[in-house]
Amino acid sequence: MTVKRLDINQPKSFEFSNEDLTLINDTIQNYPENRKQSAVVPSLYIAQKRAGGWLPEQAILKVAEMLDMPKIRVLEIASFYSMFNLTPTGHHFIQVCGTTPCWLRGSDQIKKACNDLVGKEGEVSEDSVSWLEVECLGACVNAPAVQINEDYYEDLNYESMTALIKKIKGKKDIKVGSQVGRVSSEPKKMEKNNA
Ligand code: FES
Repeated sequence: MTVKRLDINQPKSFEFSNEDLTLINDTIQNYPENRKQSAVVPSLYIAQKRAGGWLPEQAILKVAEMLDMPKIRVLEIASFYSMFNLTPTGHHFIQVCGTTPCWLRGSDQIKKACNDLVGKEGEVSEDSVSWLEVECLGACVNAPAVQINEDYYEDLNYESMTALIKKIKGKKDIKVGSQVGRVSSEPKKMEKNNA
């Protein structure tokens, strides 16, 4: 697990859109009146989307103000969950699962593909792609798996991962889900034994 810190380059301001504010206020209504802090995770998620995939300090402050929470409590939450980024990400953000099932199924090769075609982990490439190793994405049955923005890509190997990255960079459509044609998490098709 890596230590997450606020980025050294911070924008001076952050504003939610009216749509964001409505969404946050609706979320707050889901909780008892004196428990609006319970909306902190969805509020941070909305803030992250508004900021372009990461949480600047001003966004964290804004969430703290809205929910009447000390800034440090909101920062603790933002730095704890891997779904929140405290440094800028690329327009295409690849999260590579490195937990045991994916590791056993070759996630080192997936990280190698990212290193070879995108660059160092955590750095944003010139064409706005970045990648990060994360813990289990909950798609272990189709390991190894990655999440690119909101979608999952599964049953990967070095070749299929490099093909995905090349398509992203070439602004081509990519097929979501299993990259070997499996439907959902159905068993792998057995090869016919001709012996
Ligand atoms: S271990 Fe990779 S998705 Fe669960």
